[in-house]
This record gives sequence, C-alpha cells and structure tokens, in this order.
Amino acid sequence: MNRNLTFTMIKPTAFKNNNTGGILKMINDAGFVIKAMKLTRLSPEFAGDFYAVHKERPFYGALVDFMSSGPIIAALLEKDNAVDDYRTLIGATNPENAVKGTIRKMYATNLQQNAVHGSDSDENANIEADFFFSKTERY
Ligand code: CMP
Repeated sequence: MNRNLTFTMIKPTAFKNNNTGGILKMINDAGFVIKAMKLTRLSPEFAGDFYAVHKERPFYGALVDFMSSGPIIAALLEKDNAVDDYRTLIGATNPENAVKGTIRKMYATNLQQNAVHGSDSDENANIEADFFFSKTERY
C-alpha cells in the first residue's frame, strides 16, 4: 500500500470543548503521522471558498457561519491508505450514524458541528491542504 495524505480540521465546537488533545491522540494511535498543523480562525470568505463544492446546498450558509465562528485546527496527515482509513476513524458525517469508537461518535455535537472534517479523495486532500499549508510548513 502507498503512504498518502489526508487533510483534517478540528471544528470550532470540538476545539472550544477542549477535545483537541483527545482527537489528536486517536489520530496518532491509529497510525497517522502529522505532516503539518496549525491553529487558526477562518474568515467567512475563506470558509466559503473551502466549502464552495457545497455552495448550492441549503446548509451552505450555516456551515460557513459555523466554520468561521471560532478557532479550528488544520492538519495534514500521512498513512497508508490515509483518506479511507481516516474516514473510517472519524465515522459517518452525521454522528447519529457514526459507529461506536469513532471520533465523531465520541466528540461530535450534531451533523453540522461534527467535530472534524476529513478529505473524501486524494485529489481533494491535496486541494484542501493547499488552502492552509505552504511547502515550508510541511514536514
Ligand atoms: P464535512 O466533512 O466538514 O463536510 C461538509 C460538512 O457539511 C459536513 O462535514 C457537515 O458538517 C455539513 N453537512 C453535511 N450535510 C449536512 C446537512 N444535511 N445539514 C447540515 N450540515 C451538513
């Protein structure tokens, strides 16, 4: 299997609830290596661009408001089969459907405030990482 990358964000509610340490421990325990990381706050414009793929969805405005409502942690993670394995680790988008022991089951508040974001493809992992990290910020 090839080592590859996925991109994640710890969302505002999970950060505010001090769940960052618990979530990062689950990420490390599952074998992911942190290649880049930062604590930052998204402007509404930046959040709108990041989630532009959802622009026509009814929840887009609320998602942009939420994602710019407070600090987030952005990180680039490396592992064999990173995208799929990370999606397994975080669980279903709606925490009501997430399997026990997944990050979202443990830390999500609801569908919008679902603790973490995870890339859905290798291509999007690279696009999403480019929103946050220059070459010199990746190790
Ligand atoms: P995320 O993995 O960050 O990708 C897009 C986000 O949109 C998703 O997590 C959810 O937080 C949010 N989302 C997806 N579907 C809905 C929905 N039906 N209602 C509200 N928010 C949603």
